[in-house]
Amino acid sequence: MPLQKVLPFCHALLKETVQAGDTVIDGTCGNGHDTLLLARLVGPSGHVYGFDIQETALKSTRDRLCQAGELSQVSLIHASHADFSHYVSMPIRAGIFNLGYLPGGDKTITTQPESTIASLRVILPQLEKGGLLILVVYHGHPEGKIEKEHVLDYVQKLPQESYQVLQYGFINQRNDPPFVLAIQKK
Ligand SMILES: C[S@@+](CC[C@H](N)C(=O)[O-])C[C@H]1O[C@@H](n2cnc3c(N)ncnc32)[C@H](O)[C@@H]1O
Repeated sequence: MPLQKVLPFCHALLKETVQAGDTVIDGTCGNGHDTLLLARLVGPSGHVYGFDIQETALKSTRDRLCQAGELSQVSLIHASHADFSHYVSMPIRAGIFNLGYLPGGDKTITTQPESTIASLRVILPQLEKGGLLILVVYHGHPEGKIEKEHVLDYVQKLPQESYQVLQYGFINQRNDPPFVLAIQKK
């Protein structure tokens, strides 16, 4: 069996974890690929909270959801994921953060270590037992290299009694390919 690439691996983890009726988040909607997968998984009885700081990303996500007929179970929030707790108060089953910049967009607007870690601090306590938070770490650009160090340092120190943390990625590829950090609440 061929080894799974990073994004299909994340989607397989989400499919295993998320069921109809769940509440989940997309911390970085971008063009909405992950938001759409989550919307399909939770179905009309569940809910997806999607965050992005760029209106253009939210528009792209809204258009994708609309075309797929999956908009009704999604709240698109024009705010930083660091402000998660202002918008979501219930336990969440899963979340995904695709870090970095908007593909096809302004490459100077990228996720930042301070806000990424601030959001982990507020989201992890709200994760259900058995729930999963996935980070896809892009470190091919200079800001991404700094963010990678901060995020790795933070997740490596999560208490093992409460969380399992998995790192998944290919280590012999050129151009600093992205890797996955998957955090599961015990
Ligand atoms: C790599 S893209 C996400 C790609 C997306 N998952 C997709 O399927 O197309 C990263 C996104 O994070 C957004 N972003 C950057 N900082 C953010 C923050 N503090 N809170 C929420 N979104 C942020 C960017 O605007 C960008 O759209």
